Amino acid sequence: MRGQRPGLGLGGAVNKDVGGVAGGEAKDLFFAVHPLLIFPETLGTFKVYIKQAGRFVLYAGQGELFTPRHRKKLHDSGVSEVYILAQERQNYQDYVERHLPRILADEDVPVRERSKVLHSAATGIVQDVFDNKLPTGMTKREYSRILGFVDQAVQFLSKGEALKQIAALASHDYSVYSHSVQVFVYATAILQAMRVTEELVVATGVGAMLHDLGKMAVDKAILQKPGPLTMEERRVVETHPVKGVAFCMDMPLSSEVTACILLHHERINGVGYPGGLTGKDIPLHVRVLSAADVYDAMTTKRPYADAFSPFEALRVMRDDMPGAFDLDVFKTLVMVLSGANIV
Ligand SMILES: [Fe+2]
Repeated sequence: MRGQRPGLGLGGAVNKDVGGVAGGEAKDLFFAVHPLLIFPETLGTFKVYIKQAGRFVLYAGQGELFTPRHRKKLHDSGVSEVYILAQERQNYQDYVERHLPRILADEDVPVRERSKVLHSAATGIVQDVFDNKLPTGMTKREYSRILGFVDQAVQFLSKGEALKQIAALASHDYSVYSHSVQVFVYATAILQAMRVTEELVVATGVGAMLHDLGKMAVDKAILQKPGPLTMEERRVVETHPVKGVAFCMDMPLSSEVTACILLHHERINGVGYPGGLTGKDIPLHVRVLSAADVYDAMTTKRPYADAFSPFEALRVMRDDMPGAFDLDVFKTLVMVLSGANIV
């Protein structure tokens, strides 16, 4: 149920700053974020609350500079969540987008700390998918299982080279980074429903996080172009799977992960790239990833198109891209989205 997932203990009374709304109504007013995502020496464009004895108390006002002292105070009092008004969600998302890449790439911040930041940011995106994009019928258990896979993937990606690459990707185009985490959630949900091994789910999760890394080599002006691409621009975009593999040369990736990066634009009817592979020449987990990739892209607002509704996106995948996706995978995606129990 919305508002009852882990990390969303929003049932208490609120103070006067939010209009004195009490009890159950408060759960829709706030969302929770990890204190690590309130970065030191940055200016907040939103208010930050903490919860004390069941009440939301203003902790830092809008336009207040977050200082290391703020961070220390939170840490010393053992605060594991801070709260932001739902109406300021967009401000908060813009803030993370502006600062996250810099923090992830900052060599002065210990790798351990940066990996915690990466983890908190990914968790926030996963929570957003659960709150806003998946059916409310999905349970706490499914949520924590997916977070478990995020833990394992982030643990892997926290090794120096991978962290650097993810930071570079997030700073090149943050929407590619958030898309990668969203694809992670859909692909993991489908694979769980298909009951593949846990190892394969984790490998696909890592693959999802890295699948568009090659877009770092594509000019931002092309990635964010508001209209259709020219033939030449399309050719450049289509180099990203191969370039992504090249960026990962120094990472100890399994063949399953590499396949995600190299083959996620292949289509089972052979119209994809770079190889024009068909059918089962594309491994199952990559067929899952590519359906998740297209579904997420279509249901997210892009520079050149508005977001489709879930129903419309599935209709386009079925009717306008006939034979592109594995039928079992597609049916499982529909099942996941319709709120059927997936575990
Ligand atoms: Fe891609």
